Amino acid sequence: MIDKKSYINKLVQLKAPSVNNASAYAPSNIALCKYWGKKNLELNLPTTPSLSISLRDRGSHAKLSLASQNLLSINGVNALSDSPSFKRTFDFVNLFTSEKLAVHSRNTIPTAAGLASSASYFAALVMALNKIFDWQAPISTLSCLARLGSGSACRSLQHGFVKWFNCDDPWQSYGELMDIQWEELRIGLLIFDAKEKAILSRQAMLHTQKTSPFYQTWCENSRSDFVLLHKAIEQKNFTQMGETAEYNALSLHAVMLAARPAIIYSQPTTLQAVSKVHELRSAGVEVYLTQDAGPNLKLLFLKKDLNAIQAAFAELEVINPFSTVNLIDNGVS
Ligand code: PMV
Repeated sequence: MIDKKSYINKLVQLKAPSVNNASAYAPSNIALCKYWGKKNLELNLPTTPSLSISLRDRGSHAKLSLASQNLLSINGVNALSDSPSFKRTFDFVNLFTSEKLAVHSRNTIPTAAGLASSASYFAALVMALNKIFDWQAPISTLSCLARLGSGSACRSLQHGFVKWFNCDDPWQSYGELMDIQWEELRIGLLIFDAKEKAILSRQAMLHTQKTSPFYQTWCENSRSDFVLLHKAIEQKNFTQMGETAEYNALSLHAVMLAARPAIIYSQPTTLQAVSKVHELRSAGVEVYLTQDAGPNLKLLFLKKDLNAIQAAFAELEVINPFSTVNLIDNGVS
């Protein structure tokens, strides 16, 4: 298989910058069918297809400027040059240029707490690079490039339901927008812990893949979940979508629990909230949950149940993924 540098060279024409600065915004995304495991480490090709919903105004703004030395600031705080975020950023940026850049990023979602901030960050970074170097690349190409920074970033270049279906062909392995608007759909964020997660998803997925005896079974199930979810979304079948998304996530956490040593992202507050979601469902309020590489939960529900769900979860942050309100200062062209 082709190496990363040659892959990039075939996707975009690397050249000198055409402007001094550029900025872009990318939404975070929550996977309803998870990406967990790699078929190819070099090019970040996934073992299974995944499908997500974008979080509209929750995501990352990235501003790039030509500079005399590399600099990274996250939410106004400069990152140390030996910090993991600095290294990860410039390992990525240096794949495209030898120019020094100042990268100012601002996240409207907690950083590295299983809330997909790295997905929106790499997507915003790629969109800003596209502007500064005037690649004029289509979304599919930018999605392939973002995938190299973080797999789930390939689903963060568009607003709405995005599927990442192709796991084998590096040229076709990108996020594709589904042509579906679902105005009644709501996402609730239950943030119990906004601190950085203990085990990064990259390490955690490799560890699960290598050591959990249930990993292959999860992959088989997840391929069926993808098909079910895709159909449920097309038909706007909320029950089918919610049930499948919740099953996909909880079964993944079960697989991680069986890794050696076990990976446990849930905290007591996570499990209390899972019970509460199940109690609400028993009481007739249709709400489902999903969980990523962290203790926080994301709830899926419809607008009609907003009051009941807010009454149960006072701390819930509600997102309308299909809001028609303009994004302010989004920098997206
Ligand atoms: O893209 P990564 O390496 O941060 O992995 C993302 C993993 C999950 O968020 C748990 C699942 C997903 O599909 O987004």
